Amino acid sequence: MRYLTFALAKGRLAKKSMELFEKIGISCEEMKDKDTRKLIFTNEELGLKFFLAKPSDVPTYVEYGAADIGVVGKDTILEEGRNIYEVMDLGFGKCRMCVCGPESARELLKKNEIIRVATKYPNIAKAHFTNKKNQTVEIIKLNGSVELAPLVGLSEVIVDIVETGSTLKENGLTVLEEVTPLSARIVVNQVSLKMEHERIRKFLTDLNEVLKENN
Ligand code: PRP
Repeated sequence: MRYLTFALAKGRLAKKSMELFEKIGISCEEMKDKDTRKLIFTNEELGLKFFLAKPSDVPTYVEYGAADIGVVGKDTILEEGRNIYEVMDLGFGKCRMCVCGPESARELLKKNEIIRVATKYPNIAKAHFTNKKNQTVEIIKLNGSVELAPLVGLSEVIVDIVETGSTLKENGLTVLEEVTPLSARIVVNQVSLKMEHERIRKFLTDLNEVLKENN
């Protein structure tokens, strides 16, 4: 039997995904070892392979077929824009992509002023301002701690993930616009969905049952 391969976004999403998969009989003992530096894990009995990847790389592994199935946040799916099928919302990892800034920046979003937007997600920011709002902006790509940008005068606003809202609050910033709600999603390689249709369909049906029971 060919391995069915899963690419998981390493960190909290991978852990939550495996907890969910256990409920449908998909487990991987060697992945539970916290000290392991291994990147690939197998369950020989079930013919499954799992690997942990940087979240932004998960859609790439799935698009090229190095993984049949991926678990990744909707933010990454939108930003990467890969040719993959998004087939299920897992309902965890819920947060929001928002335009944030100091309250004083709210006015700038109403007028058609050219403003600077700092973000880790330039494609999402561009789609929001250019395509949806028709506002010309200068997008400044950052790699983290994006909340700093409006505080030090790098940008007027940011486009970033808001979960609890405490990072914003502690830095005197606020949500000015919601771009889109986010959560963890299952993505599938387009060829795998045809070639491994039965196994993937069963996996998704079982998962759906568990998610329904949980809600
Ligand atoms: C994320 C995000 C916000 C923060 C939001 O950053 O970019 O900064 O979490 O969470 P909160 O609303 O619960 O405060 P992350 O911790 O991933 O680090 P980063 O700033 O380096 O991207």
